[in-house]
Amino acid sequence: MSISIADVVNDDATLISRRAWSDPELYELEKRGIFGKAWLFLAHESQIRESGDFVQAYMGETPIIVSRGPDGAVYANINSCSHRGLPVCRSDHGNTTKFVCPYHNWNYDVTGKLVAIPQERHVKGRPDKSKLGLKAVPRVESWNGMIFGSFDPEIESLDDFLGDMRFYLDAFFARFPQGIEFYGAPQRWKINANWKLPVENQLGDVNHGPFLHAAVIPPEANAEVFELGLSVVPKPGHGATFRLMPEDAPVESVAWGFEGMATLLGGAEVQDYLREIQAQAKERVGPLRSRMKGLTYGVYPNLSFLWSNTAFKVSHPRGPGQVEYWSWSVVPADAPDDFKKIMRGNHTAFFGPGGILEQEDSEAWVQQFQGSKIDYAEDRPYFYGLGLGEEQERSDMPGLVSVTANEFYARHFFRRWRGALEAAQG
Ligand code: FES
Ligand SMILES: [Fe+2]
Repeated sequence: MSISIADVVNDDATLISRRAWSDPELYELEKRGIFGKAWLFLAHESQIRESGDFVQAYMGETPIIVSRGPDGAVYANINSCSHRGLPVCRSDHGNTTKFVCPYHNWNYDVTGKLVAIPQERHVKGRPDKSKLGLKAVPRVESWNGMIFGSFDPEIESLDDFLGDMRFYLDAFFARFPQGIEFYGAPQRWKINANWKLPVENQLGDVNHGPFLHAAVIPPEANAEVFELGLSVVPKPGHGATFRLMPEDAPVESVAWGFEGMATLLGGAEVQDYLREIQAQAKERVGPLRSRMKGLTYGVYPNLSFLWSNTAFKVSHPRGPGQVEYWSWSVVPADAPDDFKKIMRGNHTAFFGPGGILEQEDSEAWVQQFQGSKIDYAEDRPYFYGLGLGEEQERSDMPGLVSVTANEFYARHFFRRWRGALEAAQG
């Protein structure tokens, strides 16, 4: 029996069935309709600067090797031997000239080409190696150092896919003279929850802060979010939240986005660097974006950016009931090394598997996932109607804009999700 997706998400996406987070049949449709169709984040160019550098990644459940070829180009291949399917790359990251499969030692170069079959000298026929390379991801494109791949050869350009989300991402990236870099390896851990739960949390759900994180986030920070916070949907499925600080706000109050935490961990040096960056922000990103003090962002379908903790995260699905979450510390590329280390310390103290805030979030996701499987509650979908129709266009920034309590970011996401699953159903 095939599911009617319209029964899972109603037309205005104000009511969403619990099955959206737990049903195996819907999960199979997500694999085809979302992870097989969208641009998916793979890596940042700063992780693979030199020829032969590589990092591992995932597109949905499919393991990927992202590498820098001798020609300087970026390659993305499925990490699975063309002979019998073993992973040919066994390290999370590194530098190499070839990937050697452990089973029968077929050799692939860093671009994914098959270069040697040790056994072929003992047989008469020579297989055509040019047809036996690793399977390449059909589309790979970068924007601002962010590398994405797609399994859909016909997909629109990455620029079009991101659309006006670039305006909001650049409010952060372009603040720094040399842009940003990913600092060190990602933290990776598994959470017994559906992949959409971390995504939704980062896409726009900043209003759980004062409640779930009451013990950690100071009341004045929460008051600022309610007073000055905005939620934007530049394109359905993407989202950005930030505080739009007043024009005459002192430089310190806009300097970063986690000023309380920077004070706690960083001390005077960090404060000085941030003040200096903020003092140039108007020139670098313009008057409006210089007033943006970021909170969280989401890029459809599963990339998140937590400005206030300078982390990029990807929510990799592992069946309907588990997510493998990856989180990278992101730092200004031109910052002093000490500063970068402090930022990474800040990242791991507050988020990641041992992070004081993310442990609280993860517990909420696990409990929501449990709530999504409760028997005899199918006639009680979740309510997503807060702020319905209150979002509006503004002349000074792209997209639909509203207060952060408006759940329109999630309604837009789930309407896109519904369309993608219906298309996959055919
Ligand atoms: S499975 Fe890779 S060489 Fe045989
Ligand atoms: Fe949270």
